[in-house]
Amino acid sequence: RLPRAAEKGFTWLDERLPASSAGKLLRKAFPDHWAFLLGELALYSLVVLVLTGVVLTLFFDPGMTESVYQGSYAPLRGTRMTAAYASTLTISFDVRGGLLLRQIHHWAALTFLASIGVHMLRIFFTGAFRRPREGNWMIGLTLFLLGLLEGFCGYSLPDDLLSGTGLRTAATITGSIPVVGTYLSFFAFGGEFPGQDIIPRLYVMHILLVPGILIALVTLHLVLVVQLKHTQWRGPGRVNRNVIGQPMFPQWLTKSTGLLVVLTAVFAVLGALGQVNPVWNYGPFQADQVSTDAQPDWYVGFLEGALRLMPPWETNLWGHTVMWNVFVPAVVLPGVLFAVLYAYPFLERWLTPDRGELHLCDRPREAHTRTGLGVAGIAFYAVLLVAGGNDVIAFVFDLSLNTLTWVLRAALVLVPPSAFLLTKWLCLALQHRDRERLAEGDETGWVRQSAYGDLSEGHQELPAAERHTLLARRTPRPLEPPPGVPVAALSRLRRLQLSLSRWYYRDQVEPPAAGPRKEEFATASDRAGADGP
Ligand code: HEM
Ligand code: HEM
Repeated sequence: RLPRAAEKGFTWLDERLPASSAGKLLRKAFPDHWAFLLGELALYSLVVLVLTGVVLTLFFDPGMTESVYQGSYAPLRGTRMTAAYASTLTISFDVRGGLLLRQIHHWAALTFLASIGVHMLRIFFTGAFRRPREGNWMIGLTLFLLGLLEGFCGYSLPDDLLSGTGLRTAATITGSIPVVGTYLSFFAFGGEFPGQDIIPRLYVMHILLVPGILIALVTLHLVLVVQLKHTQWRGPGRVNRNVIGQPMFPQWLTKSTGLLVVLTAVFAVLGALGQVNPVWNYGPFQADQVSTDAQPDWYVGFLEGALRLMPPWETNLWGHTVMWNVFVPAVVLPGVLFAVLYAYPFLERWLTPDRGELHLCDRPREAHTRTGLGVAGIAFYAVLLVAGGNDVIAFVFDLSLNTLTWVLRAALVLVPPSAFLLTKWLCLALQHRDRERLAEGDETGWVRQSAYGDLSEGHQELPAAERHTLLARRTPRPLEPPPGVPVAALSRLRRLQLSLSRWYYRDQVEPPAAGPRKEEFATASDRAGADGP
């Protein structure tokens, strides 16, 4: 029983705030698995970004007015530069702890996007995007897009030679959009590139607009995670209707706070020891200069790679140039990629007869086509990312840049389908192995010799939890045509749906109805009496 004063305090609070429902929230169950920490990693990187970002705003000046640098970094003294670049130098060399903060901010940005990416892959490969979480999947994707935009805006703020080169690419991409591109580019830059307006505009987006939307959407994302309940892995007692895990308070909250503290410490060490974006080495942006190994941060590298691999195709229509070489890789490709990702939960549902709510995670091997498609997507992304650094690779390994570009073009076409087939094959092999383990148990490593001299291998039953997990597997089946209706009488769309569904769920390995029980395996005493291992 609580002391009287505490009880009175709680009653007072409950009359004014929904404190009793907060109590319910504190008892919420969180399933325990390392993969469920990835979302938290993204969340805490964002917390560090906001905290360090707020301090940086106290010293950063987004102005584009030029003046001659007279600060403490001697090699650049006497150079003309914008206030944005000069203030970044001041933060790095004259503000106490400024460089540390800049580097923590940059490392946190790199980690934020990496953890969102891996979190998205965990959601994809475990099928946690299915009903009722389609909406949260779409909010997540929007968060990913906002993260990319926020990272790009931040990267451009210091107005150094590298970030200015990135902005020039952005101006070319915007300009490549047919009909409206030039107007859009002039609108964004306030005239011809680079103009005087872009850094202040990016600053407003970076510290106000995008973080505002990001934080609001992250809040909605988390409210939905709580509201819809967390998915969980199959296991004894874990069914589609319940969630088994540790309560939010104190276990989950303690662990999660631990993660925040460790992550902040890791960022502090990285910020102190790992140099990132040394803008003083690049010099201020000048529109007529570019350095050879100009690279964006890793998360924009795939777009850079797509631009580098695209053949130089252009069409002249009525005196206007359509730049396929920029429009297709930098606008159409990411557009299609994200459109497919947004639609994926609905596409999969369209091919699946089971339309109910799904709260249990799939093991990736059990959804072999989805896993294959996911790995093919990663392979496609990886080839583009490598292509984004083709100049550095050619230089370091002394290769011909042209030959490397052609090899990467071929890889972009050949690697993803090969990755799909290989992954699907591996998943099916693992499904067969599960089936065999269920049917025969695990090998004990013992061989028994009977009185007549014949030899047999010893097997033992799988651990109960694993046996349960394998047996409780849901084996989705392809859609069937309606009974009594010939397939030829169906609409084209319906026939396409049926054949795609057959392709998606084909080759599924059925688990045995029930594996043999304990008594059917060799017992420990049998093993003790056997002739030897
Ligand atoms: C700079 C990313 C949130 C304020 C940067 C830079 C990156 C970045 C990559 C360039 C750092 C460098 O110079 O090496 C991000 C990401 C964010 C985020 C991914 C969130 C998802 C914020 C927030 C604020 C902020 C919330 C402020 C409220 C700043 C400022 C700079 C900056 C003032 C310029 C200072 C400088 O470059 O030294 N950001 N940021 N950022 N960011 Fe952020
Ligand atoms: C779950 C945070 C981006 C889709 C979660 C969870 C957290 C979280 C803390 C609960 C724990 C977990 O399962 O990891 C964030 C943050 C993001 C972000 C801070 C970025 C700012 C994304 C993205 C996607 C996504 C890019 C997908 C495209 C989901 C879904 C769930 C979830 C569907 C529910 C999973 C379940 O119930 O098993 N998110 N997330 N999130 N997230 Fe995110």
